[in-house]
Amino acid sequence: MRTQVVIVGSGPSGLLLGQLLTGAGIDNVILDRVGKDYILGRVRAGVLEQGTVDLMGKAGADARLASEGLVHDGFSIAFDGRDHRIDLAGLTGKHVTVYGQTEMTRDLMAAREAAGTSTLYEVEDVTLHGFDTDKPFVTYTKHGVTGRIDCDIIAGCDGFHGVSRRCLPAGAMRTFERAYPFGWLGVLAEVPPVSDELVYASHERGFALCSMRSMTRSRYYVQVPADEQAEAWSDNRFWDELRNRLPRHHAEAVTTGPSFEKSIAPLRSFVAEPLRFGRLFLVGDAAHIVPPTGAKGLNLAASDVHYLFDGLRDFFLEKSSAGIDAYSERALARVWKAVRFSWWMTTLLHRFPDSSDFERRIQDAELDYLTHSQAAATALAENYVGLAF
Ligand code: FAD
Ligand code: DHB
Repeated sequence: MRTQVVIVGSGPSGLLLGQLLTGAGIDNVILDRVGKDYILGRVRAGVLEQGTVDLMGKAGADARLASEGLVHDGFSIAFDGRDHRIDLAGLTGKHVTVYGQTEMTRDLMAAREAAGTSTLYEVEDVTLHGFDTDKPFVTYTKHGVTGRIDCDIIAGCDGFHGVSRRCLPAGAMRTFERAYPFGWLGVLAEVPPVSDELVYASHERGFALCSMRSMTRSRYYVQVPADEQAEAWSDNRFWDELRNRLPRHHAEAVTTGPSFEKSIAPLRSFVAEPLRFGRLFLVGDAAHIVPPTGAKGLNLAASDVHYLFDGLRDFFLEKSSAGIDAYSERALARVWKAVRFSWWMTTLLHRFPDSSDFERRIQDAELDYLTHSQAAATALAENYVGLAF
C-alpha cells in the first residue's frame, strides 16, 4: 500500500490531522493498536480552547460541538471557604467550550468514515522505517499477516506510550521531565454539576475539581497520593472527600449518584525535543505531557496539529519545505508556555506532601494576589483560554 502520510495513532491528534489532510486532498492512513470502542471508552479531557474548536470546524467535524458544547465565560478558584470567579470573558474577551474528548474523537471518527479515508484498527508491531531518508515506510501485523505502507511523511500521534518517540536512536533527542507526588482520581456520574461553571478548589486535604460533560453529567476529580488505587475508593468515600474539600455552598449542592467511570491519572510534565527527525514528526502526547490542571493536554495536541498541517499542506501542495522545517520550533515555543502554565497552576492549587511552611505561605500569597490583582487574574485567564497560534 502507498499513501502520502502515515499517521500512527487514532487519538484526537491523529484524527484531527487526518481530517485536515483529507480536506486538503492529501492522502493519509491511520494505524492504531487498539479498536474504536476502546478509544471511545477512554474518559479524558473536557475543556476546549477556541483554537481547538476552530480546528474542529476546519476539519468539518464541529456540528455537534456547536450545538452541544457548553460555552463557559468564567470559572472559580475556591479556597478558605470562598469562591473567587475568574471572569474569562471580561478579562480576555474570550471563552472556553466544555465538550468531552470522547465526543470530539467520536465526531472526528464519523467525519473520517464519511470521507471514506482508511483507518486500520487493532494492528500490532507497528514499526517505523527509513524516516531519515525520503522514502519512509511503516510495517505492522494484523491477524498474523504483515502489512507495509510506503509514504512520504510519518506523523507520530501515538501518545506518551507509543512507538514513535521510542524508536528514535539514543542521543537523537533531549527530554525534560517532572513527576508530581500525587495523581487525580476522576469520577463520571449521571448527576447535575454543582455549579454551571467549573470550580478548582485548593484545600488543606488536597485539590478538587468540579467539572462537567453536560448539565446532567458531572466530572469530578480529587487529588490522591501517587500510589493510590482506584479500587480503594467506593462512591461514598469519593463523594465525602469531594464535599470535604469544597466551600460549604458547593458541598451542599453536590448531587451524588453511582459513578460509571472511576480511574486515577498520574501527574507529570514531560517534553521531548526536537519534534522532527527527518520525515518523522512527533505530535501531541507522543512528544509532551502536562499535568491536567488547566486542561492544556488536548489543546496542545491541537496546536501541534495546526502547525504540522500548515507545513504539510505547503510541502505537498506548494512543494515548499519551509513549514515542516519550522514545525518543531514553532510548536515547541507554544508547548513550553503551556508546560509552564500547567506546572504553575498545579503547584498553586495542590498540597505537596513535603512542602514547608514557607512554601505554603507562598501559595497563600499567590492565591491572595490572584484574587485581588486584575493583572494577575488576566495573566491566568489569558493562558486558560489559550495563547494564540
Ligand atoms: P492519545 O489520546 O494518547 O492517542 C494516542 C493513540 O495512539 C491512542 O489511540 C493509542 O491507542 C495509539 N497508540 C499508542 N501506541 C501505539 C502503537 N504502538 N501503534 C499504534 N497506535 C498506538 N488532558 C486534559 O486537558 N484534561 C484532562 O482531564 C485530561 N485527563 C487525562 C487523563 C488520562 C488518563 C490521560 C492519559 C490523559 C489525560 N489528558 C487530559 C490529556 C489528554 O487526554 C491528551 O493530551 C490527549 O489525549 C492527547 O491526544 P493524542 O492524540 O496526542 O494522544
Ligand atoms: C477537566 C479536566 C481538567 O484537567 C480541567 O482542568 C478542567 C476540566 C475535565 O475533565 O472536565
